[in-house]
Amino acid sequence: MDLHLADRTVLVTGGSSGVGLATVATLLEEGANVITCARRLDVLEKALADLDTPADRMLAMSCDVRDADQVRALVEAGAARFGGIDGLVNNAGQSRMLGLDRATVEDFRDELDLKFGGVLNVTGTALPYLRASDAAAIVTINAVLARQPEPRLVTTSAARAGLLNLTKSMASEYAPDIRVNSVCLGLIDTGQWRRRFEADEQATSYEAFESDLAADRGISLGRFGRAEEVAAMVVTLLSPRASYVTGAALDVCGGVARYVA
Ligand SMILES: NC(=O)c1ccc[n+]([C@@H]2O[C@H](COP(=O)([O-])OP(=O)(O)OC[C@H]3O[C@@H](n4cnc5c(N)ncnc54)[C@H](OP(=O)(O)O)[C@@H]3O)[C@@H](O)[C@H]2O)c1
Repeated sequence: MDLHLADRTVLVTGGSSGVGLATVATLLEEGANVITCARRLDVLEKALADLDTPADRMLAMSCDVRDADQVRALVEAGAARFGGIDGLVNNAGQSRMLGLDRATVEDFRDELDLKFGGVLNVTGTALPYLRASDAAAIVTINAVLARQPEPRLVTTSAARAGLLNLTKSMASEYAPDIRVNSVCLGLIDTGQWRRRFEADEQATSYEAFESDLAADRGISLGRFGRAEEVAAMVVTLLSPRASYVTGAALDVCGGVARYVA
């Protein structure tokens, strides 16, 4: 099926690793132009070099999504390079391992700064360009934690719940010009989990670490998801083929979600 994304332009935040990098790669395969960013430009450029990216279809810049000036520079440079923006993937971020016994008000503020502030900065700045597109779509990466809080990730769970609510408001507010959907992840094999494995002195191999966690968390499919499996769903929601889907939240979680949505 042709996703009709060729020559369209999509901004993906956090494109140097994991879900963001896989989304960039899938969009390029579909013939789209991609604007992307991360805070560490050297890491981003190395990751994109490994993709063998056509230079005329890619703009990569250093940008912290929490910084409004940096976001404006990224969005304006991207729109100028490609003549507009048709899609946005709010992906940049990471989770924070913290229980309620240790979490401070400042920890909650920091998490909201990234998960709310970052999404509001990028979405608000890209909005005029998205409104000018004839098939605009936003996908916000979220987590099943939004509806199924995890005691070890209390600040992230709370921020994710708010982000799910905010994304729903955006879907109503920006309709019918822009479709807005959430993709809620379970445990996906990316840099986040590789870093946790390296920090776990008990873990003997990554495979054992993964299968122990899958059993502990009750993942029905018995394994972590792959970034490419997430990217396929994100790109489908960005596609004009998903023209009647807005305000939805799609779980890509291997069955770890226990709620009935
Ligand atoms: N992997 C999972 O199991 C899982 C589960 C639920 C939700 N998620 C969410 O999915 C998204 C992608 O996660 P991932 O697992 O692919 O993580 P990852 O492999 O660690 O990649 C995160 C990306 O975001 C960038 N980034 C982080 N903070 C940023 C900021 N303030 N401004 C701009 N870029 C920033 C990172 O680059 P720099 O560090 O250089 O900035 C990197 O490119 C995140 O929002 C994460 O919370 C992941």
